[in-house]
Amino acid sequence: MHVVIMGQGYVGLTIAMGAASAGHKVIGFDTNATLVTNLNSGISHIEGISNLVLSGFLESKNYTATADPSSLCDSEIIIIAVPTPLTPGREPDLTLLNRAVELIQSEVKNPVLIINESTSYPGTLRNEIAGRIVGMSHLYASSPERIDPGNTFWGTKNTPRLIGGLSIDASSKAREFYSSFCDKIIEVSSPEVAEAAKLFENTFRQVNIALVNEFAQIAAALGISGREVLDAAATKPYGFMEFNPGPGVGGHCIPVDPTYLAYIANKVGVPATFIKRANEVNLGMPAYVVKRVITGAGGSVKGKSVVVIGVSYKANVSDTRETPAAPIIDLLREAGGVVSWHDPLVGTWRGETSCAIEKFDVAVVVTKHNEVSISDVKKSEYIFDCTGSISGADGI
Ligand SMILES: NC(=O)c1ccc[n+]([C@@H]2O[C@H](COP(=O)([O-])OP(=O)(O)OC[C@H]3O[C@@H](n4cnc5c(N)ncnc54)[C@H](O)[C@@H]3O)[C@@H](O)[C@H]2O)c1
Repeated sequence: MHVVIMGQGYVGLTIAMGAASAGHKVIGFDTNATLVTNLNSGISHIEGISNLVLSGFLESKNYTATADPSSLCDSEIIIIAVPTPLTPGREPDLTLLNRAVELIQSEVKNPVLIINESTSYPGTLRNEIAGRIVGMSHLYASSPERIDPGNTFWGTKNTPRLIGGLSIDASSKAREFYSSFCDKIIEVSSPEVAEAAKLFENTFRQVNIALVNEFAQIAAALGISGREVLDAAATKPYGFMEFNPGPGVGGHCIPVDPTYLAYIANKVGVPATFIKRANEVNLGMPAYVVKRVITGAGGSVKGKSVVVIGVSYKANVSDTRETPAAPIIDLLREAGGVVSWHDPLVGTWRGETSCAIEKFDVAVVVTKHNEVSISDVKKSEYIFDCTGSISGADGI
């Protein structure tokens, strides 16, 4: 099949490689011209996609990237995989999705299957996508993406894929496409069910992470190890699932998606109280971390050299969106700390560059990438570990 994927980020490029591996002719359309040039030169920006794999599909001509919207004409299937972030006021921001829809409306002259993989609230496919494209009888399906960047076990092939079509024809064409490179397809009765399932999956994580984050604070106040308690609780063979505490949540999913669910819940008159409280707890974690660091460092970080280790939101990925490292660094600076940061995967961020790990007065480990050496971290005078990976260190 001829497939155009709008957005060549974590989701779009990953799906592009999956579809190319099944022999489809894939065009990766992205509005970022520099990204397109890099992709066409065989340079991947996604941890899970190697330059070798990308170059192979470029050579076989199963994949090419473009910033030219007229490429949308040459397709049987168009997949939308553009960001769906929050506005500064923490409301769903569908600006980029709307722009993608406008491009489809202006460029596509034949009926195609349009699939939305971008995460959004129930009703998005029906109202914000199909409802805005006029004059053409396209097929529409929702297939929310479940990729877990950095996860080397669960990928596009073996993660079950949800599909909800606006019509039987849309569902069956979407099934035909995805079953060519995904092992298991689960068809649900409507796009709204697929959209809501994605939001609920991530809300489940958000709420449970908030629960353990709050529990970590209770355990610390009780003078016991929260992680040891959680490990002990996890020995129960049924009815319990282990989540780990941390400095907050980051990335494009857990801090964002539940708010899409809360938005639509509010629209239908049901207050999403768990989401609200979980956001409060998770967004409060950086301040809690900094308070504990100040206490642990002897009551003040004023004038002290502080290194924050790992500024991306999770181990072994370079994504800094919504990372709790940002407020942690800002709050440590407000408290008078002389703060640098070290992250070999991120390199440069917010106009600053990753420093070497020397002996600092204080080291705060926010994210522990495999390539960060624990013995380097241990050079510092006082260590606060948010990851549970440094034995003997203070932390959560
Ligand atoms: N990153 C994840 O782990 C993940 C997992 C599951 C679902 N999602 C969802 O998938 C969607 C995409 O997320 P992502 O992480 O891939 O984003 P990303 O920022 O990594 O990539 C998005 C790409 O889309 C491009 N773009 C923006 N507007 C465009 C347009 N109108 N036309 C074409 N390209 C456009 C951007 O230049 C960018 O390269 C979001 O809805 C997100 O919530 C993300």
